Amino acid sequence: MARSNARKKAAPTSAKSKASAKLDTSDTALIILGATGDLTARLLMPAIYRLHVQGLTTDLRIIGYARPKWDQKRFQSYVYKALKSYAKDFSETEWKKFSPKLDYVGGELEAEDVKQLKDKLPSNVLFYLALPPPCFGPAAQAIGEAGLTKSPRNGWRRLMVEKPFGTDLKSAEALRKQMHQYWDEQQVLRIDHFLGKETTQNLLVFRFANRFLEPVWNAEHIEQVQITYAETLGVEHRASYYDHAGALRDMLQNHLMQLFSLAAIEPPSCWDAEVLRDHKVEVLRSVKRITGHNIKRHAVRGQYAAGKVGRKKLVGYLDEPDIPDDSNTETFAALRFEIDNWRWQGVPFYLRSGKRLASNCSEIAVQFRKTPGAVHADNNWMIFRIKPSQDMKLLVNAKRPGLEMQSHQIDLHAPYVRDGETEFSAYEQLLMDALEGDRTHFLRFDEVEWAWRLLEPVLNAWKKDKPDRYAAGSEGPSTQDRLLDADHQWRPIALAAGDDV
Ligand code: BG6
Repeated sequence: MARSNARKKAAPTSAKSKASAKLDTSDTALIILGATGDLTARLLMPAIYRLHVQGLTTDLRIIGYARPKWDQKRFQSYVYKALKSYAKDFSETEWKKFSPKLDYVGGELEAEDVKQLKDKLPSNVLFYLALPPPCFGPAAQAIGEAGLTKSPRNGWRRLMVEKPFGTDLKSAEALRKQMHQYWDEQQVLRIDHFLGKETTQNLLVFRFANRFLEPVWNAEHIEQVQITYAETLGVEHRASYYDHAGALRDMLQNHLMQLFSLAAIEPPSCWDAEVLRDHKVEVLRSVKRITGHNIKRHAVRGQYAAGKVGRKKLVGYLDEPDIPDDSNTETFAALRFEIDNWRWQGVPFYLRSGKRLASNCSEIAVQFRKTPGAVHADNNWMIFRIKPSQDMKLLVNAKRPGLEMQSHQIDLHAPYVRDGETEFSAYEQLLMDALEGDRTHFLRFDEVEWAWRLLEPVLNAWKKDKPDRYAAGSEGPSTQDRLLDADHQWRPIALAAGDDV
């Protein structure tokens, strides 16, 4: 597919950019199954619309598929409302050009109904399952039974699947089998939207494009790594999904473990999807296994009780609408991982994520060891931030101005996007990759499998205990401290005064 120069990606192995951009989408359609759902309205349509406005996918046809027996007009008016609510820079002029590309077919997730799509399909088709997780298998199967997984012309068919892929090892394996009756692994694009975030992709570029980092990116120089994804949001309107998932399945098994494997990965020899994914799997395979025996040292979970975020009083999780009074679902999870290889021997990686915490603070923070000798210095930190803003910070020691030979810590701060640079949302990035057939930022099944394998003992142990409680708006349960080495402390979640947002 031809691409012009509007979107650029840097390959970590090369100083040159991988030129990428406008796709030839003249014979291509995106079929969204679950087209009347929340994901489509809030995230997918704004991303598709923005790619269109930027001139990157101008000929792409978009066909919504869902249960309601709507016609094209009704779907267009649904998308119009969604874009007015959720798209940045919505314009009536652009809408006039975009809306004729939208079509709709109503039907169940059954082959007989899905067959209605057949006559509308061009050579190249990306099916997007924007559906509740229990529908992934039946949808993939229905498309297969309808005979739509192979292009009759010389084109391609791909299947993009949302997370979570299974709810444990066994169900993930069963889902894989069900999908693979009709789809090859090469056709399946398992999305983890964190892999489309700029900060996540920057972990690779920054590490491998700066020579000074490689000699210090190891256990000799690194003391600990903390990966935090804290949100002030509660369960919102997602009770039916969230109460079955919990923080471990919703955030740790996928998003945080991806950040973890990218921070710890060995340098890939080339910028190739399979090589990169082999390396990520190798990290997961090298993690020391958590067992029922050492679980307290490696995993903590919590559930929010009533509290305050800022001045706003908030109810506890058990008082949220549609949450059972006796729910044991965790809204906070923290893990301690140790990697048993030459690079990381003895360095703890702490991963944690929770709802209703003190702020929206999300980062990968790498702490370096102390310097020996006469000059007093604090540990350096290298911080890749996702929230409150995408940027990088390096905390270094420098002489405190004045007559004394004293040091203090200063903050070298680099905003990620500068004036005149275009930032793409995670969904924009990943849709472009999927249309182009670039699997680098999608999960191969063995990544999903190993993530479940590592968490299986934790999930089993948590079936028995109750989660610890923490007040809404706090730093999370105090029991999370038991994961830390004696001289380590969690970085605060609450934003410090003067922290730039
Ligand atoms: C989703 C989780 O995958 O990621 C949500 O299901 C979470 O619970 C969200 O809020 C966080 O992602 P982002 O990109 O909105 O920060």
